[in-house]
Amino acid sequence: MSYGERITLKSRRELDQMREVGQHTGEILMKLRERVQPGVTTGELNEFAGKELNRRGLNSPFLNYAPGGLPPYPAVICASVNDEIVHGIPGSRELKEGDIISLDFGVESHGFHGDSAVTIPVGSISTEAEKLLKATRESLYEGINEMVPGKRLSDIGASVQKRAEGEGFSVVRQFVGHGIGREMHEPPQVPNYGSPGRGQRLKAGMVLAIEPMVNVGSEKVRILDDGWTATTVDGELSAHFEHTIAITDAGPEVLTKVDGSH
Ligand code: MF3
Ligand code: CO
Repeated sequence: MSYGERITLKSRRELDQMREVGQHTGEILMKLRERVQPGVTTGELNEFAGKELNRRGLNSPFLNYAPGGLPPYPAVICASVNDEIVHGIPGSRELKEGDIISLDFGVESHGFHGDSAVTIPVGSISTEAEKLLKATRESLYEGINEMVPGKRLSDIGASVQKRAEGEGFSVVRQFVGHGIGREMHEPPQVPNYGSPGRGQRLKAGMVLAIEPMVNVGSEKVRILDDGWTATTVDGELSAHFEHTIAITDAGPEVLTKVDGSH
């Protein structure tokens, strides 16, 4: 991933474009979500997302993404089931009752990016899995609520961590949130942990993708031989929620949120 130093501030016009691509991202993710049920394969979900991008004349920033010598990413969504944390490659795996699946989806349009993820139950799931999903979503919103001009960058991760650990879960360290705009990954990196009150001051016009990955067991990560799929080392469940959010003078604006979404 190419993270430089400087955080770009988006103009009003740029924010309008990010709002538009953010809404497409959220809408398509909602449609994907409706298709999750036992028997569906992750490859079918990917195919649906690809068609929806085409139909709307949008591009996928995930397809063929190849940071730092990784093999080009072969799909338009990441589909990470159960102990898979992020970057699961869609394929012939059939979802079954009781699974949880993280769907991570990005869109590029007119040079701007949206990025969002949601973890969805397949049919009815265990009480522990339900608790994990709720805590992970809430930890995302704890982070979002810190996105106010004058606060500091590390206030976001500190709040995410506090909620996730307060619910008895652990927070993944190996992957982080990020600035987003003309690139899918822009500075700064936004960890989901740390002490508050550190780092740059947050300013109106910054746009960040916040994406806590929360584990039932240890935070340790294993990468599979495909070069992409990140799983928990202990085989326990992991959840992932993400939104693209603009910092405005009126507070955080969740650009990838649509009616009824996470
Ligand atoms: N949404 C992810 C992120 O923020 C996924 C990108 S990996 C890709 O890092 F290969 F799928 F593009
Ligand atoms: Co992201």
